[in-house]
Amino acid sequence: MSSEIQLSLFNEESNLNQQDLIPTDGKIPIPPGTYNNMAELAQHCNQCQRCELGSTRTHAVVGRGNLKAPIMVVGEAPGQNEDETGLPFVGRSGQLLDKILASVDLTTEHDVYIANINKCRPPENRVPTPNEMAACLPYLLEQIRLVNPKIILLTGATAVKGLTGDKRGITKIRGQWLEWEGHLCMPIFHPSYLLRNPSKEQGSPKWLMWQDIRAVRAKYDEIRESN
Ligand code: URA
Repeated sequence: MSSEIQLSLFNEESNLNQQDLIPTDGKIPIPPGTYNNMAELAQHCNQCQRCELGSTRTHAVVGRGNLKAPIMVVGEAPGQNEDETGLPFVGRSGQLLDKILASVDLTTEHDVYIANINKCRPPENRVPTPNEMAACLPYLLEQIRLVNPKIILLTGATAVKGLTGDKRGITKIRGQWLEWEGHLCMPIFHPSYLLRNPSKEQGSPKWLMWQDIRAVRAKYDEIRESN
């Protein structure tokens, strides 16, 4: 590090400057408390080259919804619509996700903030690699710290694995509450899986999602009543 850069660390107004100094190597950690707000984090995500996905993105996709929401939804990674708009879950999966939330009166305006494990779109919508997930995880951890949700919904096995490290299949663990770092987490199916399995018969993925989202609503009400 040059002495000019070292000296700049003494600047009082240097929060953003310090971020600019954070190495883009995905293996070097971004410490908790780095970002004061989501705008600072978004600015860094849009400059980020911590993994190779940074070289093909149109926009980094950080989040949408209430920045103080009691419920956070974590998806996998942006698709084409998200890459183009810079907003998570705005394509077909996202429309279904909004309907699932609305079925129990949850909205991104009031109750929900939505983010992803990876902020940049993987080519051809492939699953992000373990290295890509690890490089991006500090941003999600900062988002969780800033929003501080009571409940986190993890959509699909990649979201579960990316945040908690739990490698079990989603069919095994969906609908079961697990605790991660003081937050209650509920693994649920990814909406794209429901798009591929449209049956609503008892025991079908959509039917199971209906059980799970009602359990989430009930837990949310219970937490609100106890506060
Ligand atoms: N699928 C995801 O997991 N996230 C998005 O933002 C869009 C689709």
